[in-house]
Amino acid sequence: MPERANEAGMAASDKGAGPRGSLTFRFRGRTVALDRFAPRTTLLDWLREEAGAKGTKEGCGEGDCGACTVILSRLKPDGALSYEPVNACILLLGQVDGAEVLTVEDLADGERLHPVQQAMVDHHGSQCGFCTPGIVMSLFALYHQREPATYAGVCDALAGNLCRCTGYRPIIDAALETCDGKPADRFAAATAERAAALAKLADGRDLFVGDDHAFFAAPASETSLAALYARFPRAVLVGGATDVGLWITKQLRDLRAIIWLGRVAGLDAIEEGGDALRIGARATLQGAAPHLAQLHPDLGELMRRFGSRQVRESGTVGGNIANGSPIGDLAPALIALDARLELKHGGATRALPLEDFFLAYGKQDRGEGEYVSAVVAPRLGANEAYRAFKVTKRVDEDISAVMGAFRFTLDGRRIASARVAYGGMAATPKRAANVEAALVGARLDDRASWATALEALKRDFTPIADMRASAAYRAEVAANLLKKALIEVAGDAAPTRIGDVLAAL
Ligand code: FAD
Ligand code: FES
Ligand code: FES
Repeated sequence: MPERANEAGMAASDKGAGPRGSLTFRFRGRTVALDRFAPRTTLLDWLREEAGAKGTKEGCGEGDCGACTVILSRLKPDGALSYEPVNACILLLGQVDGAEVLTVEDLADGERLHPVQQAMVDHHGSQCGFCTPGIVMSLFALYHQREPATYAGVCDALAGNLCRCTGYRPIIDAALETCDGKPADRFAAATAERAAALAKLADGRDLFVGDDHAFFAAPASETSLAALYARFPRAVLVGGATDVGLWITKQLRDLRAIIWLGRVAGLDAIEEGGDALRIGARATLQGAAPHLAQLHPDLGELMRRFGSRQVRESGTVGGNIANGSPIGDLAPALIALDARLELKHGGATRALPLEDFFLAYGKQDRGEGEYVSAVVAPRLGANEAYRAFKVTKRVDEDISAVMGAFRFTLDGRRIASARVAYGGMAATPKRAANVEAALVGARLDDRASWATALEALKRDFTPIADMRASAAYRAEVAANLLKKALIEVAGDAAPTRIGDVLAAL
C-alpha cells in the first residue's frame, strides 16, 4: 500500500503520488495486479501453484536444466519487444513487474501449433517430453531473433536446456528450419497492441509490496534505492537472482526483505568511453556481453560460455562481482584488465581496484547499506596483450574449475609488466603477485625466461581439491594457462585452441 511504502522510506517519484503497492504484469492477454505475495515466491511457484500453468516443468530447481524456461517480453527503449528466455524456477515472482510472461500454453493458436512446436513434431524432437516445454520456449525466443539461426547459434540457445532422451540433432534441425529471422506468428502480428499494453505498466514509480516485516521492493531510481536500503540495510539486494534464487530453492532460506535492482533507472547503463568501458551493476550478462567482446575476443567467448542464455538474460554483472564467489568468471577477467569497482552509499560514491573488493572467502569490502553501482574496465593499449581462459568439465553451462586472465604490457618483445589473475585457485579471485614479478623482463622469444614465472605460481597459490577438480589438477592447469597465454602472445604457430587443434589434424 502507498502509505506503508512511504513509511518504508521510498521516495515519491515524478510520475505518481508515491510507490505502487501492487506487482503488475501481463499474462494470458490480461494485466495481473498482485498486492500480496510472499517475497520469496518464485515465478515457477506462482505459475504452477497459483495460475495452474503446469505446462512449465520443474526439473532441477537450480537453473541448470531449462525445463522451467518461460519468456519475459519487455518493452525496449526503441519500442520493440524483447523475448528473454529465463529460468522460472529461480526467478522471483516480483522480477516480472512490467513484463509480459509467456509460457508454453500461450504458443499454439487454437488447434494450430506454433511453427517451432510443429517443427519439433515433424523432426521427432521429443521422446519422454519432460524437457520439451522448456526447449520449445528457448526455440520460441530464437524464432523471434531478427537474424537467421546458425548451427552454432542454435547450440548456444539450447545450452541451458538439457534433454536426456531425444538427443539434440532433431531439435537443432527443428530450430534451423523455423528460426529464419523473420518471425511471422501471432505474437509478431500483435506487437503494437502488446507493446501498448506494456507501455501502460511503465509508470516509473517505485514498487513496494508488503510491510516493514516482509516486502518485495523495486525502487525506480537510485535516490529511492538509497533511501530504502538505508532504512533496511539487512534487506537482500537482488540483481537477477541467479544466485539468490538458489538460496530459496536449495537452502530453503525464508527471505523476507528483498530489494530488486531491476527497475533502478540508469543502473543498467553501459558507457563506451574512449579509454574505458563502464558497466552499470544491473546490466545483464547478456547485455554486457557484446561490449566486453569488444574489449577482447576472449571476453566474448567467456561470456558465450557464461551459464546459459537463460542465466545471462537474468544474471547481472554487479551480482557476479558482489557475490564474491572464488569461481565467478568476471572478477579474474576484469582484475587482469585493472578494472575499478564503484560502490554507492546514499549519495556518496567510492571506487577501488576490483581486486581489493575481495577480502576473504564470503567477505567483501562492502559496508552496511552500500551497493555495487558499476565496474569500469580500461581498454587495452597498443602495447598490451590480453588473454582469458575458462576451464570447466563441460564446455557449456558450467562453472570454472580454473579461470585465468593475463595482461602483458610489452616493450617490444620483452614483458615490461604483467597482471595475472585467477579464479578457482584461492578463497577469492586473486592476483598472482609472484608470477607478475617474475614475468617482468621475460622475453617472448625465449621460453627459458618464462620458467621462473611458471615456478612462482606454486608460491602464489595452494589450491583446494573439490568436486570440480583436484588441487594437483588446478595447479597444473593454472601453469598451463599461463604458458598458453605466453605462447599465443609470442605468436608461436603451434595451435593452442581446440578449434585450431582439430583443424590441424
Ligand atoms: P543475484 O543472485 O541477484 O545476487 C548475487 C549476490 O550479489 C547476492 O548476495 C546479492 O545480494 C548481491 N548483489 C547483487 N547485485 C548487487 C549489487 N548491485 N550491489 C551489491 N550486492 C549485490 N557464474 C559465473 O561466474 N560463471 C558461470 O558460468 C555461471 N554459470 C551459472 C550457471 C547456472 C545454472 C547458475 C544458476 C548460476 C551460474 N553462475 C555463474 C552464477 C551466477 O549466475 C552469476 O554469479 C550471476 O552473475 C549472478 O548475478 P545475479 O544478478 O543473478 O546475482
Ligand atoms: Fe531446472 Fe529450472 S527446473 S532450470
Ligand atoms: Fe526426454 Fe528430452 S525428451 S528429456
